[in-house]
Amino acid sequence: MKTSAELQLDDDGRLRHLLTTEGMSRELLTEILDTAAQFAPVAGAPVKKVPLLRGRTVLNLFFEASTRTRTTFELAATRLSADVLNIDAQTSSTSKGETLFDMQRTLEAMQVDMFVIRHGSSGAAHFFAQHAAPGVSVLNAGDGRHAHPTQALLDMYTLRCHRPDISQLCVAIVGDLMHSRVARSDIHALRALGAREIRVIAPRTLMPSGIETLGVIPYTDMDRGLDGVDVVMLLRLQRERMRGSLLASPGEFHRAFGLTERRLAQLGSEALVMHPGPINRGVELAGDIAYSPQSLILQQVEHGIAIRMAVMAMIIGRGPTA
Ligand code: NCD
Repeated sequence: MKTSAELQLDDDGRLRHLLTTEGMSRELLTEILDTAAQFAPVAGAPVKKVPLLRGRTVLNLFFEASTRTRTTFELAATRLSADVLNIDAQTSSTSKGETLFDMQRTLEAMQVDMFVIRHGSSGAAHFFAQHAAPGVSVLNAGDGRHAHPTQALLDMYTLRCHRPDISQLCVAIVGDLMHSRVARSDIHALRALGAREIRVIAPRTLMPSGIETLGVIPYTDMDRGLDGVDVVMLLRLQRERMRGSLLASPGEFHRAFGLTERRLAQLGSEALVMHPGPINRGVELAGDIAYSPQSLILQQVEHGIAIRMAVMAMIIGRGPTA
């Protein structure tokens, strides 16, 4: 069986689906970031539209809650002139017992060109890609704890805007490593771009065993882990994925692992703060830090549009009718 990394490329090594950043080459990753840079000015143009995907249909299929990912995928598709349908999976026919396989066949019968799927099960996007009809592409908007490739790509894009040479950077990813698809996708992307050092900081209960095999250095002490880092990527505590009590309390987590004003001051004014959102104020970070000059959080949201336009354009903008 093909891995996600193999399945997402066509025979010429070009993107056919986007499932994961794992195994993605530095060249392909850089090509996506460079393409996003070309699309970024569309957001500031008087007419925020280019005709690249005119006549194409993109279907957003979200089985889990989302604000920024769903909206920016929709904006990206509409700014490329595609027709976009949003299916709220809570009210879709899977709630009547239809399987994912049958739902996909049904939607393909409507001549959809691209599925954007978010699902609580790891592997859902891979499953869709495996069964996709010829010419139909699948974009993973987050599958369980597995991967969230467009988030990692927009994180790399945002980072590169401020620190063009990622190979110089020491980056710490902090918080709920156990349940975070964002962390996994960021680690693969940072490694592909050659980041100097990647640290992961979490309480023992939220640190996956064997995580060092991904090429990261684990810390269970926040102050030691933050010492000398250039970038702090914070993660939300994903309580919806936690079984049993893995944490004492949000307040205790904040004292031990939260980014407080004191910890930020110790990092120095050059350090950058990132978070995929949604943020939980007073848990992963002290409230005022989110909108401080060192925070890139809103830029991450903004860049999500250009990244998603780039990926869609690279995948279906070059088809026979492009
Ligand atoms: C993340 C997700 O859904 O994986 N959010 C996002 O897409 N911006 C992280 C999270 O929910 O905490």
